[in-house]
Order: sequence, then C-alpha cells, then structure tokens
Amino acid sequence: MSYRLRPWVSWGLAASFLLAVVSGLLASYPFHEAFPLISTVGIETVLPFGSFLRAFHFYTGQLTFLLLVWHLVEALLNHAERRRPLWRWSLLVSTFPLVTLALFTGYIVRGDQTGLAAGQIAEHLALRLPLIGLVLNRLLFAVAEEGVHRAFMAHIYLSVGVLVISGLWHFRLRAVRLEDLAVWATLAAAVSLVLPVSLEAPSFETLIKGPWFFLGIQELLRHLPPWLAGLVFPSIPVLSLVFFRLAPRGLALVLVLWTGTYVILTALGALR
Ligand code: HEM
Repeated sequence: MSYRLRPWVSWGLAASFLLAVVSGLLASYPFHEAFPLISTVGIETVLPFGSFLRAFHFYTGQLTFLLLVWHLVEALLNHAERRRPLWRWSLLVSTFPLVTLALFTGYIVRGDQTGLAAGQIAEHLALRLPLIGLVLNRLLFAVAEEGVHRAFMAHIYLSVGVLVISGLWHFRLRAVRLEDLAVWATLAAAVSLVLPVSLEAPSFETLIKGPWFFLGIQELLRHLPPWLAGLVFPSIPVLSLVFFRLAPRGLALVLVLWTGTYVILTALGALR
C-alpha cells in the first residue's frame, strides 16, 4: 500500500516558502547591503513592527527548510520518484540544496557574528574546492572582496529559482489555499511575537560558529580535507535522492546512516 502525503505538510511548505519570500521582500526595502548589520539593526529599531518582521522572515525560512526535509521523506515513502522522468525528479530534488543555500546566505546577509562566521567559513571552504571552488565563491560568497553583496544577490536569486522550479513543475500558485496561508502565517506570527531573533555583536573569539544546520559540516572540516567534508559529504544525500529509483532499499539505508552521522556531528559541533 502506498503512503499518502499529508496535505498539511505539503501546503505548509508552500505557504511558509511564499511567506518567507514576501517577508523577505518587505525586509529588503530598508536593507542596504553596504551596511548589513546597521541595516538589520535598523529594521528592528526604525521600521514599524520591524523586529516582528525580521523574526517572521527568520521563522518562515526555518519552517521552509524543516518542512522541505519532511516533504522529501514523505515523497520517498510515496514512491514519487517512480512517477516522474529523472530530469523532473532531479529538478525537484535540486530545491533541497537551493533552499539550504538560500537559508545559509540569509544568515550571511544579516551581518552579525553568526553571519560573519558563516561567510568566512563558506568562502574559505569554497576556495579550497578543486575546479568549481573559484566560480562557486564568486557566485555565492566573495565576502572578502564584496562584503555581503554576492550573498545578498544569491539569497534573492536562489529564492526566485526555487519559486520558478516549484511553481512551474510542482505546486500551482493558483492552487495555494488561502486558509493554509492564514494558518501558517498565524503560527509563524505567534512564534515571532514570543521569540524574537537575537543578533550577536561581532567578537574576536577564536571559535566561530555558523548557523545550526552547518555545525555538522564545520565539525567534519576539523577532521577531513575540505573537498571531502564540504563537497563529497553534502553531495551524498542529494545524489542518493536523485538516483533513489535505481536502488531504493540501499539508498534509503545510505540516507538514514548519513542523517544519523550528521545529527552526531551537529551535536559535537554545538557542544564545542
Ligand atoms: C525574494 C526573496 C527574499 C528576499 C528579498 C529576502 C531578503 C532578506 C533580507 C533583506 C534579509 C536581511 C534582513 C533580515 O535579517 O531580516 C534576509 C535574511 C534572511 N533570510 Fe531572506 N529573503 C528572501 C527569501 C528567503 C527565503 C526563501 C529564505 C529561507 C529559505 C530566507 C531566509 C533568511 C534568513 C534565515 C535570514 C536571516 C534572518 C535573521 O536572522 O535576521 N530568505 N533575507
């Protein structure tokens, strides 16, 4: 018997993503990429309901990422990969690294200590990758040369890319239900009111930590060369998802083992 996708996960994902895009557009109005931290503080202090808007953007972004992971697991249980040609399934899988990078560049853009750490580590990592490193760094980071400019552009282009891929071949924008938008907006608004998002002042600590979902990669970078920790290891779940139809049982085991390893690495990174 085939697993049926839970509508609240699928529509929650579409709703959170659209809410992240809309709140991002509102937050970018007073945002000046030459002064990222001052702009972010400005959003909080000058813009009416600014700290609410920032927290709303932050939480709808986190929700998008978490619901996408859940949605992917459900899609595999539903054997969704068997009903689509490989190119179309691969495009859908590509939204996972694209959303992760959109989330990651969001942290860089806010320009506080976590953002600076994220930008520096990502740039060093990209520059040490063979062949694609230079291009990747110019496309996504280049923080040493251009501050948060590239990351901000990438943040927007990645979001538009996800919108195009998922909107054209997956959810129909017309079909997004207003009641789902309202429920998820209310949930994100309630969390944003209760839990404002902190900003950390830049510090001179020797141990710098990036965003929570990057701690596992950061931990691995302490033990393995950058091309293994930063390229091969994160590519494993993406390639396993793309080629899942070839060996569902074996690749499901790979995904479970990879996730378990990543949870342990993240815990080790967080405890440092
Ligand atoms: C066109 C779409 C988007 C625009 C114009 C945009 C714009 C911005 C701007 C201006 C900031 C810095 C100000 C702030 O911190 O709030 C930011 C931060 C951020 N963005 Fe976006 N964004 C977009 C889409 C997204 C998406 C789709 C995600 C998640 C997948 C996301 C996740 C984040 C995160 C996590 C932050 C850091 C929030 C914080 O802690 O302050 N953004 N974005």
